Amino acid sequence: MTTSDSRKHFPAPNALEHPELVAYRAEFPILQRKTYLNSCSLGALSTRSMQGIATFMEMWNDWGAHAWYEIWLGEIAKTREKFASLIGAQLHEVAIAPNVSTALTSIATALDYSKRNKVIMADMDFPTLAYQWLVKERLGIESQFVSSPDRIHTPPELFEDVVDDRTALVATSRVFYTSGYIQDVRAVADIAHKHGAYILIDDYQGTGQIPMDVVGMDIDFLVTGTLKWLMGGPGLALVYIREGLIPHLLPTTSGWFGHREQFQFKTREFEFRDDAARIEMGTPSIPSIYAANGGLDIIKEISVESICERTRYLTNDLIARARENGWPVHAPQEPERRSSIVMLGLERPDEIVKGLVARNIITDYRPGLLRVSPYFYNTIEENAIVIDAISEILASRK
Ligand SMILES: Cc1ncc(COP(=O)(O)O)c(C=O)c1O
Repeated sequence: MTTSDSRKHFPAPNALEHPELVAYRAEFPILQRKTYLNSCSLGALSTRSMQGIATFMEMWNDWGAHAWYEIWLGEIAKTREKFASLIGAQLHEVAIAPNVSTALTSIATALDYSKRNKVIMADMDFPTLAYQWLVKERLGIESQFVSSPDRIHTPPELFEDVVDDRTALVATSRVFYTSGYIQDVRAVADIAHKHGAYILIDDYQGTGQIPMDVVGMDIDFLVTGTLKWLMGGPGLALVYIREGLIPHLLPTTSGWFGHREQFQFKTREFEFRDDAARIEMGTPSIPSIYAANGGLDIIKEISVESICERTRYLTNDLIARARENGWPVHAPQEPERRSSIVMLGLERPDEIVKGLVARNIITDYRPGLLRVSPYFYNTIEENAIVIDAISEILASRK
């Protein structure tokens, strides 16, 4: 297949080609130089985020520490607002952290395991989620994993088999990072709640690319970050804590940003803030905040619904092309459960990634699988380019 055949798979009417989304390519300089298909690892850098970081430096240079109060704390407040509206949360239900692992630590130390010492996860979850509770084994906390039957998906019913009245928490991802499978979060939440357990969702691979409604999905805790689909780079994680849980959440980690009267500097006493930000610890990375606000603005401007429609279109096209080449596709059967992560079962994927880099194409791999992850700013033509290049690399092996 050549690039010129690129439209034959999904001869899309104009509406599906989303010209208004393709126009955003101009905001991502990397797309002019590379075929960039690795957004599930790191979203592309936009000129908006670049300008944001430049503004941060200007403020630092012009105002020094005086930039903290209104300007930088104001910028953090904007991040909170944008995130809250993106996931359907209220402002006092959101918090920030330097990364997901730190956010998980705060939540994990705040739970009461005295009567319920079990935490249930899926063996498809990103490891940092599991590590949080595995290291607490010596505190008597038992981690149990639901096993995926095919390393692609985990039927919600499997949680039913292990969640019981000793379960404190079900912690799992909305989107599995190695298959792109979108779990039925509401079904898993219902199972957890039926047994009096909480549900925590690691939404790092979902936020930005798939609509989120924390209330509709009945989520207790959600953690996510700006690195991937929010296009905000490293250094910032975002957290949701359901309103009713906040007053009871007393982590054994803390810092002055979580104090009710942060600027009273009361060394001898600690009182938690009333809102979800009680889990916050120390000084946040302000360049990350500026970068994140650039990405969040773009997402909100386009809408997650439109992003999702476009990425489905690109993902389905990519899968069709891979299948046409006879390559094993490690993706959910049901199109509605697919997200924008396409795993191809090709041998020595690390070598393929290198071969693609030499052709200016950025992808990634996980053990035994080549990972291609398009986003709204990618095109059908780029799908054709990567598929052609992979064919060429595979042909050169023969
Ligand atoms: C699903 C998921 N959770 C968490 C992380 C990373 O978490 P942290 O911010 O602690 O590095 C990743 C990163 O790849 C991920 O894919």
